[in-house]
Amino acid sequence: MEQITLADGQVWFDAALLTEAELDNAFEPTFWQHADKVIGSAKGRGTTWFVQGERVPMALRHYRRGGLFGKIVEDQYWFNGWDKTRSYQELVVLQHLRQSGVNVPRPVAAKASKVGGLFYRADILIEQVSGARDLVALLVKTQVEQSVWQAIGAEIGKMHRAGVCHTDLNAHNILLDGDNRVWLIDFDKCMQRAGADWQQGNLDRLLRSFVKERNKVGIDFDEASHWNWLLEGYRDTLNAG
Ligand SMILES: Nc1ncnc2c1ncn2[C@@H]1O[C@H](COP(=O)(O)OP(=O)(O)O)[C@@H](O)[C@H]1O
Ligand SMILES: [Mg+2]
Repeated sequence: MEQITLADGQVWFDAALLTEAELDNAFEPTFWQHADKVIGSAKGRGTTWFVQGERVPMALRHYRRGGLFGKIVEDQYWFNGWDKTRSYQELVVLQHLRQSGVNVPRPVAAKASKVGGLFYRADILIEQVSGARDLVALLVKTQVEQSVWQAIGAEIGKMHRAGVCHTDLNAHNILLDGDNRVWLIDFDKCMQRAGADWQQGNLDRLLRSFVKERNKVGIDFDEASHWNWLLEGYRDTLNAG
């Protein structure tokens, strides 16, 4: 990763994935809109823009707060050093996961800018997994076979072997591409943790998410088969480490 110092901020980027010409405005959705290079979007807390870069398609996300506090300072965070910013931390976690062989999209660039003296705003660009659908979108339409449920568990097992706790592991943050390869995404606020007592919490949260989506949109999910297959893949991978 290369690093650039701006008047009010820092940018970290992979020069193999983002061109110099793109770099200046890469974090501005309007830049991509005006260039007619917006290829999609997803609504969560904020909007994730999918944009066609010269080298790779990317997901562009501005960091936003949720909750009541978020209504007041919706996108500002307390500044505590550049290496502690949300965007830089997510970039580092993604790099660590990739080095550990976990299937996560490549981080392309991260930015953090000071607002006044005490706060900062942040953005991140991550490679878009082409042709990927999240598990909720997929499971409302179709079934997923046993080996894929096991592969989902295996990918989570690899993440845990790499010591990374996913603070928001839910069915929307697991993608399958056209070849049924499993991708884990959305690593905001996730970090490497010592020990193992946090691991079960990730699984509990994911199970709640599947149950919730089954009630809400009717995804095809069954604890006795699907969830157990996932746990099989998870345990086999974790214990193989
Ligand atoms: N790198 C990516 N490749 C493909 N799709 C993505 C990627 N990142 C996000 N998405 C899609 O956009 C949705 C929202 O993105 P996400 O990073 O989870 O943000 P949030 O949940 O905070 O809104 C995801 O559920 C997924 O469907
Ligand atoms: Mg998400």
